[in-house]
Amino acid sequence: MNSAVFSFLSDFVFLLLLFIQIPSSLSDDDLFTACRKEFVCGGISAGFPFWGADRPPACGIPELELKCDENYIAKMNISQVAYRVLKIYQNSPILRIAREDYLVGLCPPQLENSTFNPKIFEAYEGNIYFTLIYGCEDASANMYEGTFSCKIKDVDGQSGYIIEGEYGPGECNGSVIVPVSDFPPGWNTSVFEWDVAAFEVRLKTGFEVRWKVDMDLCGECSTSRGVCGIDNDTTQTTCYCPNQSSGSKTCALPAPGMHCTEISL
Ligand SMILES: *[C@@H]1O[C@H](CO)[C@@H](O)[C@H](O)[C@H]1NC(C)=O
Ligand SMILES: *[C@@H]1O[C@H](CO)[C@@H](O)[C@H](O)[C@H]1NC(C)=O
Ligand SMILES: *[C@@H]1O[C@H](CO)[C@@H](O)[C@H](O)[C@H]1NC(C)=O
Ligand SMILES: *[C@@H]1O[C@H](CO)[C@@H](O)[C@H](O)[C@H]1NC(C)=O
Ligand SMILES: *[C@@H]1O[C@H](CO)[C@@H](O)[C@H](O)[C@H]1NC(C)=O
Ligand SMILES: *[C@@H]1O[C@H](CO)[C@@H](O)[C@H](O)[C@H]1NC(C)=O
Repeated sequence: MNSAVFSFLSDFVFLLLLFIQIPSSLSDDDLFTACRKEFVCGGISAGFPFWGADRPPACGIPELELKCDENYIAKMNISQVAYRVLKIYQNSPILRIAREDYLVGLCPPQLENSTFNPKIFEAYEGNIYFTLIYGCEDASANMYEGTFSCKIKDVDGQSGYIIEGEYGPGECNGSVIVPVSDFPPGWNTSVFEWDVAAFEVRLKTGFEVRWKVDMDLCGECSTSRGVCGIDNDTTQTTCYCPNQSSGSKTCALPAPGMHCTEISL
């Protein structure tokens, strides 16, 4: 082949490839702009380590995706269970969530065994775990006081009960483990007067969880006018900088009037 033609063709292919590559991933500058936006929904707003809505996946931890329903209801899934996000505290790694299925009562439309032990959250001191056991032969005959009845799979009057601690369904049809927050310090649950209606309210007001993400790096990043995100390749926390590549801990901005002084002892 004529080398001039070849050169033209290879340049053309190169340009074509460049052109095709660009829309397939956001550049670091776009990520800086995108991750600077907060997730805002109802009274909830969140930045790193959350993502969702206008914040692309590179702006947060995969497990911490938020969605905004009807423009005001913030939601997230944790281990395939849907939660309503009631509050995201600013400046502390805590959020308050409530199981979506228990917002309408103790009888979930779809009963599935579930526990609450996602890796992304750490045990929160104030929480006490309770188990809701469903579909028992005769819950009222047992020693537990927090009994209720549900229609499950079109069978009415299937009894269930609430017990402190984490249990499987045993002889019964299903078990759901939920943390409950806001017990006063020194609370003794063995003297807890079982009040199913009050427990229902507890489930609606939700519980607090503390997320485990190393935020030290993000402080350095934001003081250098960058925004924190997640590196798609290494899955580590990274810093997106204005008009700069990511990958380093901070944005090396040549701040006006700043002098570097080497001190030797
Ligand atoms: C991130 O990496 C995955 C594969 O690990 C890839 O499918 C995806 O397109 C990448 N996303 C971006 C924004 O580069
Ligand atoms: C939760 O998972 C369901 C089913 O997979 C999905 O339809 C929904 O959009 C997810 N919600 C969030 C907040 O990710
Ligand atoms: C719950 O777990 C028990 C025991 O593993 C099982 O027999 C039952 O089918 C499960 N129920 C549901 C609704 O998944
Ligand atoms: C479990 O559910 C089935 C219906 O799906 C019901 O026939 C059975 O009695 C239940 N088991 C118990 C222990 O209640
Ligand atoms: C809780 O109360 C029970 C019954 O009154 C008592 O036996 C138990 O020692 C108490 N536990 C704590 C931790 O105070
Ligand atoms: C990035 O660079 C462009 C052109 O050089 C400039 O217009 C823009 O304001 C810069 N953005 C930031 C965030 O510094």
